[in-house]
Amino acid sequence: MSSTTKRYLITSALPYANGALHLGHLAGAYLPADIYVRYLRLMGRDVVWVCGSDEHGAAITIRAKKEGISPQEIIDKYHALNKDTFARLGISFDYYHRTSAPLHHETAQAFFLRLHEKGDEFEVRSSEQYYDETFGQFLADRYIKGTCPRCGHTEAYGDQCEKCGSDLSPADLINPVSTLSQQPPVLRQTQHWYFRLDKHGAWLRQWIETGMLDGQLHHDPAAWRKPVIGQCLSWLNEGLQPRAITRDLDWGIPVPLPEAAGKVLYVWFDAPIGYISSTKQWALENGRRWQDYWCDPNTQLIHFIGKDNIVFHCIIFPAMLYAHGSFNLPVNVPANQFLNFEGEKFSKSRGWGIEQHEYLEEFRDFPNAEDALRWALIRNMPENSDSDFKWDLYVDFHDKELADNIGNFVNRVVVLSHKYFSGATPQTTAVGHATLQRALELAQLLTTELERFNFKNAAQLLMELSSLGNTYLQDTSPWALYKADPQHPLIAECMHVCLQIVHLLALLCEPFLPFTSPRIRKLLALPAVEPGELAAALQTLEQGQPLIMPGHMLGQPEVLFPKIMDRNDKSRLAIIERQKQKLVQIMANTTAATPMAGVQLAAETAAPLEAPKPDIAYEDFAKLDLRTATILAAEPIPGSDKLLKLTVDLGYEQRTVVSGIAQHFQPEEVVGKQVTLVANLAPRKLRGVLSQGMVLMAEDAAGKLYFVSPPNAAGNGLIVK
Ligand code: 2FM
Ligand code: ZN
Repeated sequence: MSSTTKRYLITSALPYANGALHLGHLAGAYLPADIYVRYLRLMGRDVVWVCGSDEHGAAITIRAKKEGISPQEIIDKYHALNKDTFARLGISFDYYHRTSAPLHHETAQAFFLRLHEKGDEFEVRSSEQYYDETFGQFLADRYIKGTCPRCGHTEAYGDQCEKCGSDLSPADLINPVSTLSQQPPVLRQTQHWYFRLDKHGAWLRQWIETGMLDGQLHHDPAAWRKPVIGQCLSWLNEGLQPRAITRDLDWGIPVPLPEAAGKVLYVWFDAPIGYISSTKQWALENGRRWQDYWCDPNTQLIHFIGKDNIVFHCIIFPAMLYAHGSFNLPVNVPANQFLNFEGEKFSKSRGWGIEQHEYLEEFRDFPNAEDALRWALIRNMPENSDSDFKWDLYVDFHDKELADNIGNFVNRVVVLSHKYFSGATPQTTAVGHATLQRALELAQLLTTELERFNFKNAAQLLMELSSLGNTYLQDTSPWALYKADPQHPLIAECMHVCLQIVHLLALLCEPFLPFTSPRIRKLLALPAVEPGELAAALQTLEQGQPLIMPGHMLGQPEVLFPKIMDRNDKSRLAIIERQKQKLVQIMANTTAATPMAGVQLAAETAAPLEAPKPDIAYEDFAKLDLRTATILAAEPIPGSDKLLKLTVDLGYEQRTVVSGIAQHFQPEEVVGKQVTLVANLAPRKLRGVLSQGMVLMAEDAAGKLYFVSPPNAAGNGLIVK
């Protein structure tokens, strides 16, 4: 996996160009990819990272109608905003394309035609679909509203109920109404092209379960995240169906067949092809061959996405690529789970959360705001389960890790080197110093974690490297030695070792903190890092050679991260307090309108839902074997609309548990969730399935269920007591 000859093509989900992106998007598909790509570049690997705006689909036309402007104006506005904001946050795409570009239209149409010419990848089906007679057009699912058959919400869309999260189709809605004319739509005959996904189930299952493709090992399935595999298997178990890939819409890529006049490609058909056209545009502008990245089996294709995009990237797009026959399939799809914000989902309408560009604006006077944010998101990244962004954690990570650990170490080393050696790297006879050996070991562990997409572990190791330097400096205390004897040889040795660690830190922090790395390099009077420099540095250290040569003159010291909790300067704390204040305000407003909203406020005032139960002895409680666990897979149980069959991981074993949550959660929603399990509930059969335990849930007054989840990243099988 680490050969330098290997090529990489990295993609991040193309964001819709109909709105600004919030911190959850950043933590999901862009920041992890940026860390990975920056790391690959530092190792001298041949890598291209593409992304761009997803500019088709009904959501964009609806937004345009709402604002009374054209879809083109909408996509131009948000394409520019999102592209610019990513760049300001150091998200270093090699190319940020857009799906409205002619090159993309051509590429998507050629892709469609290739499948069409194969003869058996598509089928044309006629069906009745809703039509708005006043506006004279067929209605995309999003253009139809009605009552959700599952929860009774009267504003459900034709593709989804945003209240209960159910996937719907327009025919499911009770009393459907067109959002264009506000009139009930009528059913009219139309025809569409369906991709025969059903033909691809067998090889897809083998590919996902074993990594085998056409008789060869394509990738290591053990390297894939469990929730990703779980979600794919849950889909495959339900059976794949042909999927309509055309729509009756006037916004999108025209279907390139004379008999399909007035129809466009479905947005989810054209968007992933956007990865190909983005690569093509990059290659055109850089005098390179895009085919080297898409068609050479030695190139590793890796998709970074959020969990809501898993089936598109692990099942549907791979099937399209396979059917096409000329392109690589992804070797990994390290999808992230969701990031919440202060305990709740990001919500644009409530103002709950913060958008990326808004953060940059509101933190414009905050030193290193970009890296401070990146670090808080990395330390709390929703890698294997949902996580929660909290301002208090942001402050902690900033002050305890960036300021007290990295910033303090780097600053002390540069200041002391100036004091004892007039800013020059000291000469020393120390070769193969034990602390440098340990630093090298930590660096190697860190790179291994990055290769495995374990970004949180890698960030932890960066902190350990800095702590190693701090502890060594403290234990050696050159200031005490200096007092006794300014020529003491350990002083030179100590500063030499510490400077090597600072150099290594500057390299290793670059993927995580790309704005800080050049600042540390400046303190060391070194230019910004070059591609391949980390690989070379690790080799140098392996050979027991120094990274900074004796005699090298350093730059001037500088404080990298002024602390937020600073008694003498409250300006940074004030910026954070303003953010918290906004949330208190939103909570107060929502609570006034709807007494159950706003978790903390409601919890204080709401009456208990059921009468309190009588006291029990501790011994009774102690009989329960409560354990943390993660749901690996979920599937419906035939014949039951209430039960889901769950496979849960207890760390020491996997179990099947039947849970009565099917009316509250879709199977794919719960995969990856951390839960609390009653592990010693006597097994019993429900609908013919043996259930070995019970998943704990909390229920509110409206009957909504909540998982009783341990804090993020608690391991599996931990005893709850
Ligand atoms: O979910 C989304 O935001 C989609 N626009 C992602 C598309 S990813 C890819 F297929 F382009
Ligand atoms: Zn609903």
